[in-house]
Amino acid sequence: MQPKYIINGGKPLSGEVTIGGAKNATWKLMVAALLTDEPVAITNAARILDVDIAAAIIESLGGEVRWLDKYTVEVTGRNLNKYTVADEYGTASRASLLFLGPLLKRFGQADLPFPGGDKIAARPIDRHLKAFSALGVEFEIKNNRIRAAAPTLKPNHYKFVKNTHTGTENLLILASGIAGETVINNAALEPEIDNLIDLLNQMGASVKREERLITIVGREKLHGAKVKVITDRNQVITFACAALVTKGKVKIKGVHPDHVAAFLDKLTDIKAGWKVEKVASGSNETTLTVYYQGPLRATNITTEVYPGFMSDWQALWAVVMTQAEGKSIIHETIFENRFRYTDILKSMGAQIELFNPKVADPERLYNFNIEDVKVGFRACAISGATDLQPIKYEVPDLRAGATIVLAALASNGKSEITGIDQIERGYQDFEEKLEKLGANIERVG
Ligand code: EPU
Repeated sequence: MQPKYIINGGKPLSGEVTIGGAKNATWKLMVAALLTDEPVAITNAARILDVDIAAAIIESLGGEVRWLDKYTVEVTGRNLNKYTVADEYGTASRASLLFLGPLLKRFGQADLPFPGGDKIAARPIDRHLKAFSALGVEFEIKNNRIRAAAPTLKPNHYKFVKNTHTGTENLLILASGIAGETVINNAALEPEIDNLIDLLNQMGASVKREERLITIVGREKLHGAKVKVITDRNQVITFACAALVTKGKVKIKGVHPDHVAAFLDKLTDIKAGWKVEKVASGSNETTLTVYYQGPLRATNITTEVYPGFMSDWQALWAVVMTQAEGKSIIHETIFENRFRYTDILKSMGAQIELFNPKVADPERLYNFNIEDVKVGFRACAISGATDLQPIKYEVPDLRAGATIVLAALASNGKSEITGIDQIERGYQDFEEKLEKLGANIERVG
């Protein structure tokens, strides 16, 4: 039987939840560890499917991955002996693309499947390829595989024409292993990138960021290190939205308030209650309490690159807006087609209309390549507040999956959600954490 969540919605969540390490930092730090022969220990690591996939790729190449405890993983690249990543890992995740840097450094070549990952949009890799070409890498793309070769890698100055989060990380990893100075202009600002910079510096590279300018003095030989993964900001937002749509109150522990500042501003707009507190005076540890304090008010959001309102949060936010009074608009500017989840919310009773807003300068506003826009909508209008009905549903991707769980928690009645392996790609102990907050959720199968 396919594993599923059975949710009896309608119960306000209350209590405390601790957020673990970020998915989109953990597996990238593991890959960067392959730049050296020595062990790299990664603490506060997320043990979720995407991380297991990265671990399986590392092991398939001859590297070692050891879990020292539930949240600490050690990666050792000493015995890396292959530069070919098998096809099966391409469709499973986007992880394979990040192996380019370590494999090129160690073998002068890499042979990878074209990356899959979330079914959220076109997700081309042209920005990665152009950046790598600037450092001396040649590519051949054939039969859904990427063959890369670089007899000599050279540091260089490179400017990304448009923002790319993983593209910036990919280039950072490669440049850190090349002796000499590489400068990345128009680098992305996401905090997971700073987590990676922290590791690369500890491994012996010298990486400095001044906003969108990153200067890397790479080294031929890097060494072992220890790094702590930052808190998963998507999980923070998930539990915050879950508190609001169930009319509850949740204290979220381990939050970096700066990483979710754009979200907190919007909580104020919709008249939700929230407060940020230090665990103890002088401590760096911070909690965020989010609570329902009366009818929520509709507001508009536009997704943006960091530090703006993150694209990954908009589907969760849509559930909150189904519970807010009035009409709200979500305008997605990062991915060209990220509203597939709205169909299912509509079938649960939400009133949502998709549309394409008039935009004066689309090339400037949108982070995706305009030429990739073939289908889909860039915005939705939600009219609330509506009662959501329970649902039986198989989730298509991670963020949409978490969204439907939230909608099920907000609805009155019994929902059955399959395809939960998609959700568990991004959330560790999800149903246990929700259950501890009082949700009636069971994982069966
Ligand atoms: N893009 C291109 N060409 C490229 C690279 C990107 O056209 O070579 C487009 C993308 O298709 C997208 C836009 O540019 O429309 C921005 O892409 P970016 O490279 O910044 O995003 P990403 O690195 O693919 C990461 C996260 C996403 C998150 C975005 C935005 C990882 C593995 N993924 O994606 O997270 O939504 O940044 O912050 O870090 C998720 O975790 O569910 C997820 C999708």
